Amino acid sequence: MGKRLVCRVVEIPENGLKECELEGGLKLVVANSGGEFFGFQAICPHQEVPLCEGLFDGSVLTCHMHLWQWDVRTGAPLGIAEAPLQRYPVTVEGDSLYLGGDDSALGMGELFNGLDQSILEKLAALARRESHEAGAVLYRPGDQAEDFFVLESGRVEFLIGRGERTAPGGFMLKKGEVFGWAALLDGYPARIASARCLEESALLRINGKAALRVLEGDPAAGLTVMRRLAALIARYLASSGAK
Ligand code: FES
Repeated sequence: MGKRLVCRVVEIPENGLKECELEGGLKLVVANSGGEFFGFQAICPHQEVPLCEGLFDGSVLTCHMHLWQWDVRTGAPLGIAEAPLQRYPVTVEGDSLYLGGDDSALGMGELFNGLDQSILEKLAALARRESHEAGAVLYRPGDQAEDFFVLESGRVEFLIGRGERTAPGGFMLKKGEVFGWAALLDGYPARIASARCLEESALLRINGKAALRVLEGDPAAGLTVMRRLAALIARYLASSGAK
């Protein structure tokens, strides 16, 4: 998809925020940090609270509900925040802002968004694009965890356990969501859940060890991805524990 209009530059006051709805329904919050613009997810990653209602001092965004904070330049969590913000690169052209650049599933995804384009290109070169029919099983408990997946479209369900003794493990339905992340962890060679497509789904399949080698070549990017992965696993464990 090409670039998409976000809003006009004058609509965002200096050191202010604005929620924008793009063609296609995607909602972003854009922050004006001293004349530089940063786009990120519209809803707080903690609970369903619009981030445009938060406080912004020109560099740090604070959700007013429970005071999670983020650096708007990087989306990195600060203070008590437990998850990063998903970033959407916006660019100024003339008097308007556009969402452009890399809007691939990899570039938009929760693990990799905002990484240097050269890293994204190396990861993209490792990816195999797959399409699966509704009902297709991607893996089962005990299968080798060699690859992880990035959702491009569709919906994937997870079940923990085997046979009659299975429990729901959640869904993936947003473009860019990553699953099968055991492939990115040392010491977890086998799947502990099954993954099944609930509808026709398009995925990127990436070998975990090859991706780690790419990230080892850029330690800053590698640290960012590992922090995000840790937050993703913590969220997963918290939601599993709540069931
Ligand atoms: S809803 Fe935003 S910090 Fe809790």
